[in-house]
Amino acid sequence: MDQQRPMFGSRAGFIFAAVGSAIGLGNIWRFPAVAYENGGGAFFLPYLFALLTAGIPLLILEFTMGHKYRGSSPLSFARMNKNAEWLGWWQVAISFVIATYYSVIIAWALSYTIFSFKLSWGSDPTTFLLSDYLQVAEAGAFGGVVPQILISLAVTWIVVLGVLIAGVKRGIETATKIMIPLLVFLFLIVVIRALTLEGAVDGLNAFFKPEWSQLTNGKVWIAAYGQIFFSLSIGFAIMITYSSYLPKKSDITNNAFITGFSNSAFELLAGFGVFSALGFMAMQQGVGVDEVVKSGVILAFAVFPQIINQFPFANELFGFLFFGSLVLAGFTSLISIVETFVAGVQEKFNVSRTKSVLIGGGAAALISILYATRGGLNFLDTVDYFINNFGVAFAGLVEVILLSWVFKQLDPLKSHADAVSDIQLGAWWKICLSIITPLVLGYMMFDNIRQNIAGPYGDYPQNFVNTYGWTVAVGAIVFGVVFMYAKRWKAGTLEAPTSSSASSSDKEVL
Ligand code: ALA
Repeated sequence: MDQQRPMFGSRAGFIFAAVGSAIGLGNIWRFPAVAYENGGGAFFLPYLFALLTAGIPLLILEFTMGHKYRGSSPLSFARMNKNAEWLGWWQVAISFVIATYYSVIIAWALSYTIFSFKLSWGSDPTTFLLSDYLQVAEAGAFGGVVPQILISLAVTWIVVLGVLIAGVKRGIETATKIMIPLLVFLFLIVVIRALTLEGAVDGLNAFFKPEWSQLTNGKVWIAAYGQIFFSLSIGFAIMITYSSYLPKKSDITNNAFITGFSNSAFELLAGFGVFSALGFMAMQQGVGVDEVVKSGVILAFAVFPQIINQFPFANELFGFLFFGSLVLAGFTSLISIVETFVAGVQEKFNVSRTKSVLIGGGAAALISILYATRGGLNFLDTVDYFINNFGVAFAGLVEVILLSWVFKQLDPLKSHADAVSDIQLGAWWKICLSIITPLVLGYMMFDNIRQNIAGPYGDYPQNFVNTYGWTVAVGAIVFGVVFMYAKRWKAGTLEAPTSSSASSSDKEVL
């Protein structure tokens, strides 16, 4: 199996794919609002703490897992220890759930890219978004599919599945090598324009003004970990899968640093751009920045169109650049999210890549139609919250605890990473993963679960939250266990691949 494993063609190819996965809707759509809601400037402390003590160490861990065991997340965990396979499937299930709604946000962005040509959202973009475009129904109601969203959604899936059918090198590597430089170029134009708008400084001040009192709030810390994990694509099978396509002689630790810091740099860039633009809008309206900042969906699809309306010139062009950037960022991440279950299904059930893309991707595409209904926004909001807090962040926590304390894999993984990497891992890596992250994230997770059990999320009815929040989060774990026992691996599959025994002579760096 190993001989035929697809590979990235170059180091740059892998880095583009990994950075493409990391930079996504989470950076543009989620980060600025999460940072602002969780203490503005004070959010940077938990954010940096989570990045350095959990994000980068986990990224190194996942790159090493994939490189050492050369399999999808379930296969890699199963090769490490048969009893760990469920963890891989749990992560794959989380990715599957994310793919179902992530695709819909890209579909909205695709529609809005086209709306930009004529500024079709008119002078009241919030009403346009909620009433004309999404046609939002009350929580729990489906209310029928909105045809316009369905068409964009179909286009999104055709592109993503097409890229995946083309394969790792011809599809993923080629697509991300084109899309990521284009994204950086387009987005830089948007950010520079935003930074030079009147009122930009007020927006940046609001973004960076620390609210130190927020630092004692457990929710702020969970938000920081959740943001880092989601944004770095760790804890949901992606980076293990991608690094399994690295040739044997590839640097791991350096690649992880490059990926992690590129992602955070882009995230900060997005924060600058979004808050400069918000400062501009607040000044136009003569109100404070806190009155114009909104949560993710409204921020990107209602507040931004409003800002674009007020631009002094080339409004259509900047609309196109902003929403086009969202589409590109989204595509390169969705490709990686879907690849996790394409690889998992292909390896476990011994089917061809094309079949696996059509089965796995097709199932996700079908389910995504749920969010293209009039009730879609409510489902999306709830599923997104639960799968991030009790999926991504929780799976990341369980992963570090199991690998550190139960399967005792940190030393062998460290030796593997050191044998192929320029940068040698110090004691800090083990301390972060085996002590700091379990303690800090573990405590925050406990606190967050307690708070969420005490009262339903958002303004939704408890019943709705149970069905679409808790059931989905717990369902992903159940799925993990069921898939582990669903079928035996083909004979010989679980044997350690040849590259598991990297030696220092392997240190020729791709
Ligand atoms: N890492 C991807 C994002 O930030 C999933 O959107």
